[in-house]
Formats: sequence, structure tokens, C-alpha cells
Amino acid sequence: MSKLIFVSNRLPVTVKKTEDALRYSESIGGLATGLKSYHEQGSSLWAGWPGIAHEELRPDEAEAMERELRNEYKCLPVSLTAADIEQYYHGFCNETIWPLFHYFTSHTEYSAETWEAYRRVNERFFEALDPVIGDEDTIWIHDYQLMLLPQLIREKYPDAKIGFFLHIPFPSFEIFRLLIWREEILQGLMGANLIGFHTYDYVRHFVNSVRRILGVEHHLYKMNQDTHSVRVEAFPMGIDYDYFTASREADKLSPELQSFTENAQTVRNILSIDRLDYTKGIPDRIKAFKRFLTDYPEYREKVRLNLIVAPSRVEVESYDKLKRQIEVLVSEVNGQFGTANWMPVWFFFRTFSQEDLIAFYRSSDVLLVTPLRDGMNLVAKEYIASRTDLQGMLVLSETAGAASELFEAVIVNANDHGAIASGLKTALDMPEDEKTEKNRAMHRRLARYDVHFWADKFITALGQADSGHQPSKPL
Ligand code: G6P
Repeated sequence: MSKLIFVSNRLPVTVKKTEDALRYSESIGGLATGLKSYHEQGSSLWAGWPGIAHEELRPDEAEAMERELRNEYKCLPVSLTAADIEQYYHGFCNETIWPLFHYFTSHTEYSAETWEAYRRVNERFFEALDPVIGDEDTIWIHDYQLMLLPQLIREKYPDAKIGFFLHIPFPSFEIFRLLIWREEILQGLMGANLIGFHTYDYVRHFVNSVRRILGVEHHLYKMNQDTHSVRVEAFPMGIDYDYFTASREADKLSPELQSFTENAQTVRNILSIDRLDYTKGIPDRIKAFKRFLTDYPEYREKVRLNLIVAPSRVEVESYDKLKRQIEVLVSEVNGQFGTANWMPVWFFFRTFSQEDLIAFYRSSDVLLVTPLRDGMNLVAKEYIASRTDLQGMLVLSETAGAASELFEAVIVNANDHGAIASGLKTALDMPEDEKTEKNRAMHRRLARYDVHFWADKFITALGQADSGHQPSKPL
């Protein structure tokens, strides 16, 4: 029987070793949260890294983990050593590809050693998958950590149906060409039958780079290779709409969130939620909030910014620096504007359960999402969906992929503190009926184009893609 295999660097479950046992928790980030519900409902297998170094586990623990992941979560762990984590994950993935694809050219490192590790780990993923791949299987590879994998699979399985989806932006040619290994990366991706991106802009950037670097032209976003043809398309990722709109009982919340929601309405709540990442524009957001309190003093003591930052990649130097920068900025705002009865910014450097996050969404008048660059940003969609009373308002930067779908939101330039400040005021002051109308339109779209629609559409398109040996035809 044919099966669907998801492959991503990080599994939707993260394993941690405590003194007495292995602990399994949900992974954070758009990819894991977005795809999880789809995976749970189907009969797919998910291959990826469980988030723990190979050296940390004794052989019997590794075996127990493998069993638990397979039986309870339908996951196949791919093991990474401490050196792989350092050179491939922190190194090439998060010090080269991540900053470059998000247009942070000055954060981008170029190292032959980390590139070698990237190749090695992509091969390791292939070796882990090889024994489970069946002839009729559909293999759906995710994200920037595994861009060589499509071609590695293609070489051994010329007839396989291979899909690839990039969850981050694909940058313009002028940025992509800076990468020393640009040709190898494109060739790796071209092993797929179908390559998906969140937006049409990323599709255009990709086919442009393929044309300029590999000299391969597309015809209606289809490109011929010797063994197969490659189709490129935009598939904006959705959320699990029914899950976020479902009604919830307060007693499922942590006691902390129960009392927060009970007291939330004493001020207007502005919410900000991200992984710790310099692409998310968190320092600019805090500065914009300071500008808001300066330009519109009538809001002092009446609003509160709940700034939730989930720890992420803290071993990478730029992430650690960012954390300290955020701490300084938060304390500056609180020091300057705080009163005996009011603290403007509540900063949480930790993760919350999904249920607690939904309680935050539902208690917040405004969600402030101003990434400098973001592939999609599912938090923006989750917030809108969770506010089933249609009374929240989203302030969103135009450099988030989600802005091309959520255009009823208050759209701002993430670098423009004045615009973010006035956008916040617009959102807070928006009349109820205007909010209802805008939210209703967004709800309709989110309900229709949910994560199931997204995954079904991708898988259907992949099913229709040509595979098998095709003679190379001139276009
Ligand atoms: C983004 C990426 C994902 C990644 C997630 C969390 O959403 O697109 O591929 O898994 O961030 O980052 P991490 O480095 O912790 O896996």
C-alpha cells in the first residue's frame, strides 16, 4: 500500500532527557504547528530530527525513543550528532540559509565546513528514509534544511513522486546569487516534481534564479529535467481553523491564564507572539510601542503590551544578542513610562501551551505582528480565527507572507515606528461594526483555505505531476 511520507528537519515532537526519563513535547514554529493536525488525522509517516543529540542517549534509550515515536506519533527519528547540530543546524541552516533567505545579508556566514555538514546531513536523511520508501509512495519534504534531499531521492528512485515546500521566503535573485553554493541548492531542489511556496512572489523569485543560474526556462511554471518535470506553484499555508474557533472551557487553562483572562479587561491588551528571531522585528516593535505611548499619551495606563517570546536557537550568537537587546528595550519602556499602578510591557521569555495561547488571543484587543521578513506567519491567522466574536484587530507588516491574504488588517511597514504607532491607534479605536466586517471577510477566507485545504491541494497537485523518465524536450 502506498503511503505519504513527510520529511522535515524537526519532528513535530521534541524529545528531552530529564534525570529519570525521556520527555516528549510539542515542537514550536510554523511548520510543526501547521502540519501537525494534518499528520494526526491521516496515515502518514513523519521523518525528522527529534531535537536531541545522538550522544545524549544510551543505546537502550535511543531504542525506546524510536519505538515511542513510531508507535505513538507515527514518526521516524533521524539522529544528529552534536557536531551535526553545531555545523549543519546552527551553522549552515541558521547562519547561512536562514539569514540570507530573509534578506539579512550582513548576518550571513559562508563556511565550506558548514556546507559540507549540510550535504552530509541531507545524505543522512536519505539513508534513514531509504529503507522505508516504497515504489508507490509520495514523499513530501519540508523547508530550507533539506534542499538537497529531493535530488538525492530522485537519483535512486527516478519514478518517485517528490514534493518540496519552502516555509520561508525565497529571496530575489540579487540576494540568492550571493550564496556560494547556489547552483547545488537549486539542483537539489530540482529533483522534486512539485515545489511549493507560500506566495506568488517567492515563486517568481525561484524561477528567475533557476533561469539565471541553471539556464533552465519555465513554461507556465513547469520546467523539464532529464528524468522528470518540475512544477512550481504558490500554496499559501492555512491553519486548523476548526481547532482555533472551537469553544473552550476555562478550567482547561493553567491557573495563571485563568486569572489573567478574568482580569484582562481592566486595560486594553496588545499581544505580540514570536519565536526569538531577528527576522521578527521585535526590537522595532518595542520601539514603536514606545513611540505610541509618546505620540498618544492618552493611552498611558490604559493599554498593556504582552510580549511573548519563545526561546529559539539561543546557541546562535545573533539570537542570544537579540535576547539581551529585547531585555534592555523592555526595561527602558517600563522605566520611562511605568507608574506605581501600571507596567506598560509584560515580557515572557518562555513557551505557553496552545490552549493558553488561545486564551491570550481571545483576551487581546490587538495582535501586533511586524516581522521584518516572514515566509507566512501563522500566528496572525490563528489570532483572527480564535476571535470568534469578530472583535479583535490585527496590525501586520507588509513583509509577512500573510499580508497578501489578510489585507483587511491594518497593514504597516515594519521599519516605520510612527506608522506602527498610528496603526496601533487605528486598531484600538476601530468601531465595532468595522471590525466585524473586516474580521468576517478574513474568517471566511481562513475557513475555506485551512491547513487541510493547503495539504490536500499540494498532495493532489503532486499526484498529478509527471514522473518517470521523460526525454528532455526543448521548450
Ligand atoms: C520556522 C522554520 C521551521 C522551523 C521553525 C522552528 O518556522 O520554517 O523549519 O522548524 O522555524 O525553528 P527550529 O530551528 O527550532 O526548528
